[in-house]
Amino acid sequence: MKHAWWQEALFYQIYPRSFADGNGDGIGDFEGIVKRLDYLADLGVGAIWLSPCYPSPFLDCGYDIADYTDIAPEYGGLPAFRVFLDAAHRRGIRVLMDLVLNHTSDQHPWFQEAMDPRSPKRDWYVWREGWQGGPPNNWLSTFGGPAWSRVNGTGAYYYYHAFLREQPDLNWRNPAVREAMWDVVRFWLRLGVDGFRLDAVCTIFEDPAYPESEGTAEYEALYARILQRQSPEDVAEAAARIQAIFRHQFDQPGLHALMRELRAVVDAFPDRVLIGEHEDLAYHGNGSDELHMVFNFPLMRAQPFGPRDVLENQRTRLPAIPTGAWPCNTLGNHDVCRLVSVWGGAGRARLAVAALLTLPGTPTVYNGDELGVANLVIRDVDAIRDRFVFQAMPELHGLTADARSGELLERMGSLSRDRARTPMPWSRAANGGFCPPGVRPWLPLHPDFAAGVNVADETADAGSLLNFWKQLIALRARCRALLVGDFQPLAGETGDVLAYRRATAESQAVVALNFAGEARAVPAAVRTVVRGMGVETAPVYGALDETGGLPAGGVVIWTGGV
Ligand code: GLC
Ligand code: CA
Repeated sequence: MKHAWWQEALFYQIYPRSFADGNGDGIGDFEGIVKRLDYLADLGVGAIWLSPCYPSPFLDCGYDIADYTDIAPEYGGLPAFRVFLDAAHRRGIRVLMDLVLNHTSDQHPWFQEAMDPRSPKRDWYVWREGWQGGPPNNWLSTFGGPAWSRVNGTGAYYYYHAFLREQPDLNWRNPAVREAMWDVVRFWLRLGVDGFRLDAVCTIFEDPAYPESEGTAEYEALYARILQRQSPEDVAEAAARIQAIFRHQFDQPGLHALMRELRAVVDAFPDRVLIGEHEDLAYHGNGSDELHMVFNFPLMRAQPFGPRDVLENQRTRLPAIPTGAWPCNTLGNHDVCRLVSVWGGAGRARLAVAALLTLPGTPTVYNGDELGVANLVIRDVDAIRDRFVFQAMPELHGLTADARSGELLERMGSLSRDRARTPMPWSRAANGGFCPPGVRPWLPLHPDFAAGVNVADETADAGSLLNFWKQLIALRARCRALLVGDFQPLAGETGDVLAYRRATAESQAVVALNFAGEARAVPAAVRTVVRGMGVETAPVYGALDETGGLPAGGVVIWTGGV
């Protein structure tokens, strides 16, 4: 069966501000990205997903868009983007934009007009009259605090914002909004981009009856539990309760019809792809009328996972994916903790990387995770760039610098998503080679760059995390079974060994991952399948120990014919 490019490509998320600074102002830009395309090609990247790179006041790091059909001047504007797109395509690398449908920046001309109650754009946003001197209801912003704000704090009418108060929600029940946004989509597709990652899909509609939410007082504590990651079960429970608080604001009827409308717009252009920032497989529709892919966030959240989590995840998801749609796995992104911080080091993280690159579906890598860049807790209020902490932690306001306690600053730094957005370390030179010496990067680099966590040092070190990624990406690319084969577990859920077979009609691969801190026997089913693969049964990756067992933390892969 013929597969589409997006079913076989490795996706790589570039955080434009942090990737590479080409013009030496401390801010990443397209000139910088172009210079690093060879690095991406060498890594085996088949598609780049760019986090938003549009003009923006940058209060939500670009997810607050002031102009949907231009590129931020600090990134080089549209001319630099065209050069980049062309250079990527020449290397066979596709490019996806981030499409933020739910909200604009309050600086967008649409909202600037809509602030006037008599403006024809008034109904492009969600306005409601206040109630008893307060907001229309008790809904929360997902960034904390009320979901309703008034312009300059005055007037009877409030506008709704699922995120920052500077990110007013568009009114998607207004057909004019839909048409304007589909024009944006066509603009980029005509320019040649290969698809979109859809931001915050679940927030697009709200319950038109605006019923009160329940459990809102708990929100802050639940959010903290997600960050603390005491156990995957605890994270899952907190996530479910958050979902309940927002049940009138998330996943409202109308979304599937809207996704079908968008899909029809995109399908007018050949060979493009849509990935939703959502985990619900229902957004695949019938397999060819909604989203091509949604992220497997349950697997991401289950980290540091074990064999049983992975098998359960695959068992519940794979059969529910309709023909035409495709799984999409990921271990991290710009909103969550860094991969090596979740796994407690680059050693353990290899088990997750091996799973990502050998499980069914398209793998997505977040820039820097291939190097093992860790979380950076920024304790300096002035260095924080992710403004949502100031909405989520009102206690930070109005305190003098010395009144801010160590505990408060620690909490700020751990909450701020800046922790996972620090600039890419390219070498051990000053500023990690991200920007010139003497220039202040927009966010500090993680200091580990000087201790070897950087592209140059890891490229030279055969045993580095970067080279581990590279070897497995290359193995995946040349093995049809790993790219598109069926999935069959080869060991039970109770042990420490995760083992499975991937197979197409012509090829097969067997993967065995030992999550234990000591050697483990190779499961009998693995031995049987490997023996059946033919005379050459030595692993293509990794090795068994002298006794024929799987070494502690070991990754062993066999490939062959059927
Ligand atoms: C998505 C983005 C996140 C952003 C939010 C609002 O969840 O990944 O970074 O803050 O949407 O646009
Ligand atoms: Ca720059």
